[in-house]
Amino acid sequence: MTQAMTQDELKAAVGHAALAYVVPGSVVGVGTGSTVNCFIDALATMKAQIRGAISSSEKSSERLRAHGIEVLDSNGVDGIPVYIDGADEIDHAGHMIKGGGAALTREKIVADIAQRFVCIADASKLVSTLGTFPLPVEVIPMAVAQISRHLKALGGQPTLREGVVTDNGCRIVDVRGLKITDPLAMEQEINQWPGVVSVGIFARNKAGVCLLGTAQGVKTMTF
Ligand code: 5RP
Repeated sequence: MTQAMTQDELKAAVGHAALAYVVPGSVVGVGTGSTVNCFIDALATMKAQIRGAISSSEKSSERLRAHGIEVLDSNGVDGIPVYIDGADEIDHAGHMIKGGGAALTREKIVADIAQRFVCIADASKLVSTLGTFPLPVEVIPMAVAQISRHLKALGGQPTLREGVVTDNGCRIVDVRGLKITDPLAMEQEINQWPGVVSVGIFARNKAGVCLLGTAQGVKTMTF
């Protein structure tokens, strides 16, 4: 009898499968998190074929450099073909919650520079409605209390992520209890509050492809 793959093995499988989306000769957009760490390790095997990477966090930059992959300034490129990143939740339309690793704003920036967003995730991340995973919101420090009041009025229970300061010097408020039935509308609503740097709903710029690690192998979903 074959044994079911562990979550780490599923992450490694999708990290490896993402290599098929890397365009030789190009700069690759790289996300953040444990699934992306598997992708970075796989990318090292084809580092001679790429021009370098744009990274969404200091942690990913460190790992890329440790593999000898050059990390480029995002302001120095006109565009990149693909951005590869994980998700905390993804729905059947490619909308995501991201920011569990506190890198959501830089992730949104690199995703915006890229023509295509390829999400890599194990099957536990696939949901029918976003919102079971606490929604991260990156907030300028002086606005934390006011943004928390807005989030309560929206029906959520906000808590400050203790001890976490983002790569941008800001704070993360995690919101429980939201049922996100209209991801695009909620993303737009929260994004416009003064003091919000960005909200971890990726709907305006959602995934175009998801490589999902399942017991039956890597399943490709396109949106
Ligand atoms: C970081 C993120 C990650 O993509 C998300 O948290 C998933 O991480 P992991 O692959 O470790 O489950 O959004 O800000």
